[in-house]
Amino acid sequence: DASDIEKGTYPHYMLKEIDEQPLVMRKIIQAYQNEKGELEIAEDILNVVKECDRIYIVACGTSYHAGLVGKQFIESMAKIPVEVHVASEFSYNMPLLSEKPLFIFISQSGETADSRAVLVQVKEKGYKALTITNVPGSTLSREADFTMLLHAGPEIAVASTKAYTAQIAVLAILANVTAKSRGLNLGFELIHELGIIANAMETLCDSKEEYEKIASEFLPFTRNCFFIGRSIDYFVCLEGALKLKEISYIQAEGFAGGELKHGTIALIEDGTPVIALATQENVNWSIRGNVKEVVARGANPCIISMAGLETDEDRFVLPAVNELLTPLISVIPLQLIAYYASLHRGCDVDKPRNLAKSVTVE
Ligand code: AGP
Repeated sequence: DASDIEKGTYPHYMLKEIDEQPLVMRKIIQAYQNEKGELEIAEDILNVVKECDRIYIVACGTSYHAGLVGKQFIESMAKIPVEVHVASEFSYNMPLLSEKPLFIFISQSGETADSRAVLVQVKEKGYKALTITNVPGSTLSREADFTMLLHAGPEIAVASTKAYTAQIAVLAILANVTAKSRGLNLGFELIHELGIIANAMETLCDSKEEYEKIASEFLPFTRNCFFIGRSIDYFVCLEGALKLKEISYIQAEGFAGGELKHGTIALIEDGTPVIALATQENVNWSIRGNVKEVVARGANPCIISMAGLETDEDRFVLPAVNELLTPLISVIPLQLIAYYASLHRGCDVDKPRNLAKSVTVE
């Protein structure tokens, strides 16, 4: 049928969509570039971002995880305070809003009912809303004041992959262009860094056997798996855990390294797989300290670090990229590990049980 044609030679949409990520990065660079070769966003969007005193990001699932990374970008580059909220909680736990709030809805499908419910609420109050979505003309795009597109192409697999990295890249562009127009000097050219990211993604997508090995060594029979990281790595751990649980049904959780000793470490038993991300220089030694703590309790560790920060104990070293942008590449091994874990456990990779691609009921 038609869907088989679209999949081409790939056994699953998820694998195809993981592999499309370098191309999507390049498409995004192109789509948000002006004739002078500089990154650019629509003027009305730039103005509304510059005028607001606080940004409220609202999203669900993977899109929420992209929002957490986006907060770091916007705060560190553009110096605008950001709150990130799970859409389904926002309606009844509405925070006290600032004087000039701007709402950003992140949604691959643009049809998620929980996010739409919040959009309806904030529009009723007369606030401005920007939707970041993959689907032009989608409900969230039509009902918001502004839209930024992901240019990721259709995402079919229930487990979101290329939309996540596209969301992060678009949020980086939004933060970067805003920072520049506010006269803030960032000390790097995002457009150049995103080009490096696209190449690094390609290298990672070419190392599939390595992740298949990790998945088959760490995950074939386990009932649980933990992901630990600090700082921006922690947000990627949340996403890695969501990927693994939704398609392999392994109970997986992402934790902040520093929180282990406050409770979670009680869960570590002999052989518990712990995947640790170490891509940030300022927390490199503390996350490695956490790995030592779990290993002392019997954990089976898998450290994924970044070139320049690696040690002999690491299982995989990512190519070096701009430190702020590491989520764009550190997520790829986690996506592929989840993919192979699902495959080896005989699960339905593209259509996991109990899940729908877009959740159009509240
Ligand atoms: C991702 O792998 C999930 N299937 C899910 O969390 C998804 O990200 C969430 O439902 C939000 O969807 P949206 O981006 O289309 O709004």
